Amino acid sequence: MSDFADLGPILVIIPTYNERDNVERIVGRVRAAVPEAHVLVADDNSPDGTGVIADGMADADPSVHVLHRMGKEGLGAAYLAGFAWGLERGYEVLVEMDADGSHKPEQLPALLDALRDADLVLGSRYVPGGSVVNWPKSREVLSRGGNLYTRMALNLPLRDATGGYRAFRASTLRSLDLNGVGSAGYIFQVDLAYRAQRRGLVVKEVPIEFVEREVGDSKMDQKIVTEALWQVTVWGFRDRARRFSRWRGERRRHRTGERW
Ligand code: GDD
Ligand code: MN
Repeated sequence: MSDFADLGPILVIIPTYNERDNVERIVGRVRAAVPEAHVLVADDNSPDGTGVIADGMADADPSVHVLHRMGKEGLGAAYLAGFAWGLERGYEVLVEMDADGSHKPEQLPALLDALRDADLVLGSRYVPGGSVVNWPKSREVLSRGGNLYTRMALNLPLRDATGGYRAFRASTLRSLDLNGVGSAGYIFQVDLAYRAQRRGLVVKEVPIEFVEREVGDSKMDQKIVTEALWQVTVWGFRDRARRFSRWRGERRRHRTGERW
């Protein structure tokens, strides 16, 4: 029973920091929703013992793996380590998914199906059919505002570039120059989408229902928001400067009659 055999081996990477009460449930749901997918829990040495629970699941199920990291180094760093782990082991599809249930494993088949003719699939809250359930108004305003700013500053034709439910082809990750990614926090998500878009890869958005966690706390904080705003602004200026110098070069060539 392998619906996605044509895509090659699939790895779902779940970063965790203090997700003791969520980790078992989310791994179980992934295993049930897409039985052929393997799971990698990337734990930042959670003080609440999430890593120990994950080890127990890995002992009981050969399709579950755990990557123990030294300490809390941010979402971006955890995913980069998880991608490297998966690429080394020959996985052809690498999926990002939160541990808290906000990204429903039952919607993973829709993402995987879309990956059949895309290089990167984004689970999107803000395309028709997508939604957010149980978010406080303030958080939704922050997310929608962040996406609007990102779209305008970076000229990025994506509705949900900040989301964290995604499916990458291994070839996509290999082409993105991951060694050059310095984004530590949630801006990592925008960084990768922006890189993919600039490389001319096919990025597809499929609608998802994002349900706010019921257990545990969000790790989003002021530092993460500030890093994100700052990064988008810097990239935006760089992008405009690049386009301006290209335009000026073309104008000069046009004036001097050069044709190349
Ligand atoms: N290993 C590790 N290290 N995991 C982390 C870290 C970290 O430093 N920070 C967060 N996580 C894990 C959490 O344990 C959880 O599984 C997942 O990353 C998402 O964290 P949340 O704290 O639940 O994020 P959120 O719900 O506030 O934010 C969601 O929306 C953002 C904006 O759209 C996520 O989907 C983000 O990916 C997304 O950027
Ligand atoms: Mn969450």
